Amino acid sequence: VKKLPELGVGLLIHYSEKYKNYLEHVNNHVDFYELLLIHFSENPNALKRVKKELKKPLLLHSAAASLATDGPVNETMVNSMKERIDNADAPWYSEHLCFTGVSGLQAGTLVLPIMTEESLNIICDKISILNKKIQRPLLIENVVNMYNDVGDFTHAEFINEVLKRTDSKLLLSVENMSMSKRFYPEFDHYKFIDELETSKIAQIHCPLGNLEEQKITPDSTYGSLEKKQQLHFDVLNYLAKEKKVKPNALVWELETETNSIAEPKDFINYLEWSKDLFFNKEVIKL
Ligand SMILES: [Fe+2]
Repeated sequence: VKKLPELGVGLLIHYSEKYKNYLEHVNNHVDFYELLLIHFSENPNALKRVKKELKKPLLLHSAAASLATDGPVNETMVNSMKERIDNADAPWYSEHLCFTGVSGLQAGTLVLPIMTEESLNIICDKISILNKKIQRPLLIENVVNMYNDVGDFTHAEFINEVLKRTDSKLLLSVENMSMSKRFYPEFDHYKFIDELETSKIAQIHCPLGNLEEQKITPDSTYGSLEKKQQLHFDVLNYLAKEKKVKPNALVWELETETNSIAEPKDFINYLEWSKDLFFNKEVIKL
């Protein structure tokens, strides 16, 4: 596989008005942006314009391919994915390791596959078709454990196996780990990470909420959203310091459970903190 470039720290932006003003405050600190493929399904050419406007590298994130579906690849969908990824000139794109439905019937969510050898074959075949058609590196993202691990592999073992067999890299979602604990209380972030082939983590997704609102928002799993957010920071620390993870990109996600998104100054603080943490600079203390 081609070596992925080091992009640094970026921001996932939803293609909406809300972000226009926000970007004026934070753009100087952001190394690149990530966009959702689905926002450009009607107008793939808009990506060329967005790329020109933002003047930064763009990554694209997909939830459309349903890698675990046992059935032929939808050619129209893959061609349309390719068009959008090419328009953005994305150095890579990412997709979830999950099942989202069969032709004509959608699950409505990202379902963790039944983890058997048969599933592995279906998923790996699908990835090799995407690789052949799209011709850009694909990163695989962990989804939420909405139930215990079902099948012959643990979730982490299953991810490792897919990465090995398809020579892919991992996009580790911190939020999806945290959601897992809500549905499946035995889920443990650190145990999951320890089982993963962490040298293959090329990208990290981590949410950042509005810090003031998080303090007053209870959460049934973590006590408060503030505690959940603290766990996210702790997990990033653990990845960087204990596991020596060297991602090519870290992406902050601002759309979380609270009504408003993080204050620009807070976002910039944590963005700089994570640059220091993962990209070889002296670690600053927050
Ligand atoms: Fe995702």
